[in-house]
Amino acid sequence: SRALKPIAAVAVQNGAKNFSTTSQKNFKVVVAGASGGIGQPLSLLLKQNALVTHLALYDLAPVTPGVAVDLSHMDTPAKVTGHKGPEQLADAIKGADLVVIPAGVPRKPGMTRDDLFNTNASIVRDLASVVAKEAPKAIMAIITNPVNSMVPIASEVLKNAGVYDPNRVLGVTTLDVVRACSFIGEINGVDPRTVSIPVIGGHSGVTIIPLLSQAKPAVKLTNQADIKKLTERIQEAGTEVVKAKAGGGSATLSMAYAGARLAGSVLRGLAGEANVVECAYIKSDLTEAGYFANPVLFGKNGVAKNLGYGELNKFEQELLKAAIPELLKNIETGVKFVKK
Ligand code: NAI
Repeated sequence: SRALKPIAAVAVQNGAKNFSTTSQKNFKVVVAGASGGIGQPLSLLLKQNALVTHLALYDLAPVTPGVAVDLSHMDTPAKVTGHKGPEQLADAIKGADLVVIPAGVPRKPGMTRDDLFNTNASIVRDLASVVAKEAPKAIMAIITNPVNSMVPIASEVLKNAGVYDPNRVLGVTTLDVVRACSFIGEINGVDPRTVSIPVIGGHSGVTIIPLLSQAKPAVKLTNQADIKKLTERIQEAGTEVVKAKAGGGSATLSMAYAGARLAGSVLRGLAGEANVVECAYIKSDLTEAGYFANPVLFGKNGVAKNLGYGELNKFEQELLKAAIPELLKNIETGVKFVKK
């Protein structure tokens, strides 16, 4: 198409000069669950990413082809295709470089993320089995809750299919980081984009561990009670949204923003950019829990390096201690679901 030409031309030029170091800059990205509250704004943001040359939108909802037509009218390079229902799933996934998954039900007031398990587990399992077949080298970025259990599910499915690469399966915890930066920006009276902080552990309640002691710039809170309060606000920020939406779902717009940022970082890594770091929930041997979130370096094959989480102060060590049993339980639930 017209819009694709400039990118193709650049690739040829680079290729002619120095073939061996040419980086891929044209990626196929799939959004599975593309018509939902997260899926639509996430797709809107991904359509604006210059590294995306094919955006494939998959969902069960009848509106899905229409969402694709709608986005296809944006004058950005990515070609957009719509795929509705299981019979069109293989075509959506085939040859993907990155599959972002926000498919599944969200929380209503009074629900925990674990209450979503039964519905969402089979959705993620079935998507993972198609990824194993149609795009075994794709990076999977799982937004669907409970993330702590969904990443083990996808991993077990890929293992059973003999194509598992732990560096290519991520749980998306970026929203926890985005929230922490936003709240700290407010407290410090600075632009939140200048704040950085690792949020480690997992993505639910006590497993969300913001390392406030490592925030840059330092958080302007001195007494421990305020630090505890801020920690708990970050842990419960999702519930803040669920309550405010009063039955209308959970975080969608901020999640789409966070998901697009994570996806963009994965693609920049795939494209060979140096020093691309994000927190993500991955297979890990840093703690007793088999999966754990902390800063990772992205490269041409997904996670290039687990950067660990540095020094924890006493308060943060206690948070970690509280998180591990919960993580172990969530992980076991996921693994058992695939084994049964
Ligand atoms: P939603 O209900 O608005 O959208 C979900 C979409 O998934 C719908 O369009 C539905 O048709 C689709 N879907 C259902 N089953 C499917 C299947 N088998 N294949 C493909 N698509 C399917 O929900 P929303 O608000 O977009 O949330 C999606 C998920 O993201 C929920 O599980 C929610 O808990 C989770 N979430 C995760 C966050 C995180 O930080 N990781 C933050 C916020 C939400």
